[in-house]
Amino acid sequence: MGYLSDIKTFGDVSAEEDDSVLSYFLKTDAVDEIESGQKLVVIGRKGSGKTALAKYFDHTTKEYVTTSVSLRTYPWNMHAERRNLGASEIESYVSSWRYLLAIKATSLVLSAKGTKLQTDAQRSAHQFLHDNYGGINPSLSDILRPKSLKLKKSSFSPSIMGNKIGSVDFETDSGGVSSELDALTDVIMNNVLTICSQTGVKKLFLHIDELDQGLSTLDDQRSQMIIGLILAGRTIRSVSFNEARIHPIIYVRSDIWDELRFSDKNKVSQSSAVYLERNADSLKEMINERIRVKLGNGIFWEDIEDGYLMRGSQSKWSHIISRTFLRPRDIIQFLNYALSKALKELPNADGFDNTDIQTAREPYSRYLKQELDDEIGPHWDRWSEALQACSDVATVTLSRDDFEKAYHKKKSSRNKVSASEALELLYQFSVIGYRKGIGTGGSGWVFQYTDPDAGWDSGATRLKVHPGLKEFAKLREERAV
Ligand SMILES: Nc1ncnc2c1ncn2[C@@H]1O[C@H](COP(=O)(O)OP(=O)(O)OP(=O)(O)O)[C@@H](O)[C@H]1O
Ligand SMILES: [Mg+2]
Repeated sequence: MGYLSDIKTFGDVSAEEDDSVLSYFLKTDAVDEIESGQKLVVIGRKGSGKTALAKYFDHTTKEYVTTSVSLRTYPWNMHAERRNLGASEIESYVSSWRYLLAIKATSLVLSAKGTKLQTDAQRSAHQFLHDNYGGINPSLSDILRPKSLKLKKSSFSPSIMGNKIGSVDFETDSGGVSSELDALTDVIMNNVLTICSQTGVKKLFLHIDELDQGLSTLDDQRSQMIIGLILAGRTIRSVSFNEARIHPIIYVRSDIWDELRFSDKNKVSQSSAVYLERNADSLKEMINERIRVKLGNGIFWEDIEDGYLMRGSQSKWSHIISRTFLRPRDIIQFLNYALSKALKELPNADGFDNTDIQTAREPYSRYLKQELDDEIGPHWDRWSEALQACSDVATVTLSRDDFEKAYHKKKSSRNKVSASEALELLYQFSVIGYRKGIGTGGSGWVFQYTDPDAGWDSGATRLKVHPGLKEFAKLREERAV
C-alpha cells in the first residue's frame, strides 16, 4: 500500500510558504461572507488561515476583480511620517491609507482590463501612475514614497478643488501630508469607480494581509496606523458609483484586534467582521481534502490510520485535536511530525499507529510554545515565566494558590504582570482553562478557544494547562479532583 509515504507532507504550516495551498484550499463560509461585499475585516488567531484566504482571493474571477497584498516588507517607518496633522490623532493616518488604497485600486483595474486605454478616465489614471511611479503597478512600499505627487493637465490637475495646482506634497514644511491630499484621493476614487462602471466591474476587492509581520511590540503608533487602515477602508467602501464599489478587506490577528481602541469598533465587529473559527469537523474536512489531492478520490483520514484507540478510549483524531487550539496550522504541524516519525520507523508505512502519534507530541509541544511566543510576546514579553511557574507545580491541573506561589518565585523584576493579570492573559490565549460549576453537575473545563463567550472567571480556583503544552512544560497527569 504505502499510503503514508505517498503523502510526503501535509503541507507547509504557513500559507505564504505553501505554493500548493490553492490546490487543496477548503472553501469555508468565510469565502461567501467576503464575496457578499458586506465585510471589511477578517479576524483570526495566528495560524487560523488568514493568509490562505487572502491567497484564495488573489485571482480575479468572472464576478469580481480582486488582488491580495502583503504588508510583510511594508515600510511602516516611512509611512509613519505621512500623517495628516490637521486630523485628530486617531484619524491621522486615514488620509495616507485612503490614498494608498485608491492607487492600488486604480492600478488593479487598469491591469485587470489590459492596457488598452479607451476612455478619458483610463487615460488620466494611466498618466498619473506613469508620472509619479513610472508605470501602472507601483509596489505597495512605493506608493507613499514620493515627497510630492505630480499633477498634470492630462491626469487629475484641473479637478482638484477647482484649482490648477501642479502637485500635492507628502512632506510639507510642517511635517505630514498636504491638506489637498484628501481632495486628490476623492478625485482618484471617482475616477477608478468610473473606470469600473465603464468596464463592467461591480466589485473590486483589495485584500490586505500580514499587518503584524515583524511586530515585536504593539505600540501606540502601530495601533494608530492599523486603526487608520481600517477607518480608511471603511470610507473607501462607503462610496459607490453605478453599482461599482471598492471593497478593502483587512486581515487582522485577533490578539491585535482585541487591543485596538476606536469608536465604532463594536459596529465593525458586529456587522463587518468575518471570524475565522474552526471545529474538529471542519479541520478534518481540510485534512481529508489534502489526502484526496495527494492520494486520490475516496481516500480519507480513516484510511491512513490503523483504527486502534489511544489511552482513555480516545480516537487518534480526538487525541490530536485536543492538543490543538482548533487552528489549521496546529493540526498540519502535528500530522507532519507524526508523518516523519512514522516514515522513519517504517519507510513503507501505510498508516499511523499509536506510537507515531505519541512521539509527535514532544516536537509538537515545542512548536506550540513558539507559536504562543509570537502571539503573546507583543503584549507580554515575559510570559514564559508564567509557564515556568506551571512547570514548577508540575501537574496538568493545578490550584490557583499553587500557581500564585510558583509565579511569585519565577517572576523577574522586569515582569510587571501580577499573578491575577497573568492568569487572565494565559486564559485569553488558551494556555490555561478553569473548572466551572464544581458540584453542580455541570462541571467541566472552560477554555477560551472552545467556549469564546464564557469569559475569564477571576474567582476560579482550579486551573488546567492546555494539553498541547504538557510535554514542553514537563507536566504530568493527575487524577481529576
Ligand atoms: N481554508 C483552508 N484550506 C486549506 N488550508 C488552509 C485553510 N485555512 C488555513 N489553511 C492552512 O493552515 C495553515 C495556517 O494558515 P495561514 O498561514 O493562512 O494562517 P494565518 O492566519 O495567516 O497565520 P499567521 O497569523 O501566522 O500569518 C496553512 O498551512 C494553510 O495552508
Ligand atoms: Mg498569515
